[in-house]
Amino acid sequence: MDDLKQKYLGQIAEADDESALESIRLAAVGKKGEVALKMRELGKMTPEERQTAGPALNALKDEINSALAAKKAALADAALDARLREEWLDVTLPARSTRQGTIHPISQVSEEVTAIFAEMGFSVAEGPRIDTDWYNFDALNIPGHHPARAEMDTFYMHRAEGDNRPPHVLRTHTSPVQIRSMEKMGAPLRIICPGGVYRADYDQTHTPMFHQVEGLAIDKDISMAHLKWVLEEFVKAYFEVDGVDLRFRASHFPFTEPSAEVDIRCSWEGGTLKIGEGDDWLEILGSGMVHPKVLAAGGIDPDAWQGFAFGMGIDRIAMLKYGVPDLRAFFDSDLRWLRHYGFASLDQPNLHGGLSR
Ligand code: DAH
Repeated sequence: MDDLKQKYLGQIAEADDESALESIRLAAVGKKGEVALKMRELGKMTPEERQTAGPALNALKDEINSALAAKKAALADAALDARLREEWLDVTLPARSTRQGTIHPISQVSEEVTAIFAEMGFSVAEGPRIDTDWYNFDALNIPGHHPARAEMDTFYMHRAEGDNRPPHVLRTHTSPVQIRSMEKMGAPLRIICPGGVYRADYDQTHTPMFHQVEGLAIDKDISMAHLKWVLEEFVKAYFEVDGVDLRFRASHFPFTEPSAEVDIRCSWEGGTLKIGEGDDWLEILGSGMVHPKVLAAGGIDPDAWQGFAFGMGIDRIAMLKYGVPDLRAFFDSDLRWLRHYGFASLDQPNLHGGLSR
């Protein structure tokens, strides 16, 4: 028995992988292994002999089994150590190139807009891109028969027969976030909501998915004068110019009364667009005083509170500021275009550092 013990413990100590260990296990303590054969011989022994040989064989079997288990664990540890030595990575090394990826102009402009409005005390609110037609239309004073529904070229979500959940749409504007924010936070309120919106439209200045930023300020004595000041401050900061002429043009939206569209003075001399000078006007947003019905839909008492709202096209003001002639290029994922119009990935826009440098 001592010979067996020496032999197998020696082999186990020398085994250098799991399959070698498994062959040793079968030869030693497997069903047909040497220890099992010895056990069979017990029958031929005298009862006295059996009394010492039986327990001794069991002890030998246990000893070999635990040596096998210990060696198996040691081999696994060694394998892990070897892998860790092999696969190390120096995370303190500088990146290979800082021009690998760039910030998309739409992301950049969204950050710029957010930075400017944050400075004026607006926080960022969000809502779902798939919304019910109640949030997208009814709550904004656009009832079922209203022509604005048809004008928006809405994408409706497919409904299975017998599905009686309310109809859902891809939101056609960020205005439904007005209602959701009023419901969630009540008055007073000062939020912007940048995000993607959808309409079935496609040409040089329209893509089926584009971006807007909604603004909403509700308080006891908010007026058109506040709206005008906020938008003027925004445009100056965004286009990084000292003086801009804005033109407030009377307009109509179901969710505001009165309503105004805002144009910015510009020139197209020599085919290039210049903001803040010249005799041309370019429309950049819709706005107005929030309609009492819209406040009520958001759960806010229109006799106690009033507010202004606006909705601006992010892609539009991105094209203007960075000279992008075709809206569709924003969504082509052309690497050369992205490298040309993209922004360094580590630069965060803020008003102190200069928005777009
Ligand atoms: N939701 C409008 C649109 O997509 C834009 C708009 C106009 C938003 C006036 C407003 C607003 O908040 O007051 O065409």
